[in-house]
Amino acid sequence: MFIRRRKGWEIRESEATPESLFFDRRTLLKGGAVAAAAVGLGLREAFAAPDPSLALYPAKRNEAFTLDRPVTPETVNSHYNNFYEFGSGKDIFDAAQALKIRPWSIKIDGLIEKPQTIAIDDLVKAMPLEERLYRHRCVEAWAMAVPWTGFPLRALIEAAQPLASAKYVRFETFLDRVMAPGQRQFWYPWPYVEGLTMAEAANDLAFLVTGAYGKPLGKQFGAPLRLATPWKYGFKSIKSITRISFVEERPKTFWEQLGPSEYGFWANVNPAVPHPRWSQASEEVLGSRERRPTQIFNGYGDYVAGLYAGLENERLFI
Ligand code: MTE
Repeated sequence: MFIRRRKGWEIRESEATPESLFFDRRTLLKGGAVAAAAVGLGLREAFAAPDPSLALYPAKRNEAFTLDRPVTPETVNSHYNNFYEFGSGKDIFDAAQALKIRPWSIKIDGLIEKPQTIAIDDLVKAMPLEERLYRHRCVEAWAMAVPWTGFPLRALIEAAQPLASAKYVRFETFLDRVMAPGQRQFWYPWPYVEGLTMAEAANDLAFLVTGAYGKPLGKQFGAPLRLATPWKYGFKSIKSITRISFVEERPKTFWEQLGPSEYGFWANVNPAVPHPRWSQASEEVLGSRERRPTQIFNGYGDYVAGLYAGLENERLFI
């Protein structure tokens, strides 16, 4: 029954006009808080206390990661998001401002030498922050390019010291039905869960994101901590993480529980393997009228293709 239900992030780009396309960022800044509220930033954000990690941004850019397209304007992708905790449409910006991001702690547990619960501000100070330009490819066939700030997941793994029995990393989002109205929709298997193999998690590209566009991460992007795995479909990039567990069993992920034939565990980008209900051959570049051919592993094959040797019998591209 669930997989028959059409998800918000499956609407075609042509059916949804990103609210942000109507805005001009400079006008917003000039107009101040009242104008900002009027055009969608929201009073809560306009008058919010500064983020305690503000001084850490912007971080130095790691020039190893380059783009084949311009960075998507912040105003565009800040108003075209998937964050089901705050609604199944694209325009969850205002609703997501209810996300309370301090205090915020992350439980790191499971098959490791050093289980701990760490406050986000202690974590960001302990980790080597850098900026990376990454492409992001949603399974729905739209794409964006974002300057994320964060640190390699591998740095956290090294600090956690996994045991040999750990085979997967499992990520979990907060669960708070009062704060997040989407979580009152009982037909979804909350909380949102994602997972990677240990080898995927230790890959250079796997990135824990704490900021974007040279400042702390906006709530709509999944503050204060989200994942970026740019060679995989975007649903793997779990937002607002509260728990990272090292486990032996492959985690049952949120979308896999809802539709295993459509949203699998691996979800690697491949133009030649269509989603059961649409083609993945090309992608809509968010904020432009351009369509580009999809690239295998979203163009990151040099980094990740080797991870899948010997796994040819798995459904690697769904
Ligand atoms: N994480 C949580 N917790 N909840 C979500 O609904 N949506 C996923 C992913 N992470 C989602 C999530 C999907 S489908 C995509 S495409 C990306 O977040 C969207 O990220 P963006 O809104 O920053 O573009």
